[in-house]
Amino acid sequence: MSLSEQLPRIDAFDAPLGAEVVGADLSGDDIRRDVAQTKAALDKHLVVRLRGQKLDEASLIAFSRHFGELQPAPASEYYSAGAIERYPEIFVVSNIRENGRVIGTLGNAEAEWHTDMSYVDVPPGPTILYAKEVTRSGGETSLCNMFLAYEALPEALKRRVATLRCKHDSSYTSAGDLRKGADAVTSAREAPGAIHPLVRVHPVNGRRALYLGRRRNAYLVGLSEKDSEALLDELWSYVTRPEHIWTQQWQVGDVLLWDNRWTMHHRNPFDSGERRLMLRTQVYGERPLAASA
Ligand code: SIN
Repeated sequence: MSLSEQLPRIDAFDAPLGAEVVGADLSGDDIRRDVAQTKAALDKHLVVRLRGQKLDEASLIAFSRHFGELQPAPASEYYSAGAIERYPEIFVVSNIRENGRVIGTLGNAEAEWHTDMSYVDVPPGPTILYAKEVTRSGGETSLCNMFLAYEALPEALKRRVATLRCKHDSSYTSAGDLRKGADAVTSAREAPGAIHPLVRVHPVNGRRALYLGRRRNAYLVGLSEKDSEALLDELWSYVTRPEHIWTQQWQVGDVLLWDNRWTMHHRNPFDSGERRLMLRTQVYGERPLAASA
């Protein structure tokens, strides 16, 4: 059997982004080929799914480390049995309560469109999300191709935003909750958070993408708040269109990776009577590269 026959297969989705790596076993003894194919698929398709995986915290971390150094998880809630202390790289996304305490973050609410942790100076590259418990309905995760979003802008708008910078508010989660220790925001201009180029350039191939982070309390540096709001609204009207989006229907054992540099994601709300448990890791990325004009 030739080497190429042994490689897991990459099946692109019939969608503006995303592919499945078929035939990978991340709990096997030798996952180098799985990792190589996953990296190739992620580079090309921005989102990758691997189905039917059986991982614990340690093996999820081990797989994630193949993509780079892992970021410690952002301050969040609790995880049962002290696991959060043993695995500081793991962020628990869940609505489940144990002994009266939630064991994760984001609850069962809608998570609005966002890019993970764009509010820090060096935001993450890939996020890796592993499904341990899923809902019967609701809780689907949609991803948006931000290269296509940029390319959909009229030329005059592209020129207008080419060198603008955007402040990414760090105060609220994508579910609309104030983060631990943050103060409620009364002015987007004054909100805390990192400033990044609005148009982000791929460091290898030079392709341009919009880098919006999230809509809430975003602010375009140097503009009045009124002008910033109006321009952001105009930009967002081109972004989350059906032709830029693919939606993940979760199954237990799914591993989903997305490249935060060139995508945003959104999660549907779900019934609070259902249980959903996801383990997330994040890989350090790079400082966003600006377009020159
Ligand atoms: C997230 O926004 O990082 C979580 C997405 C999800 O729960 O599907």
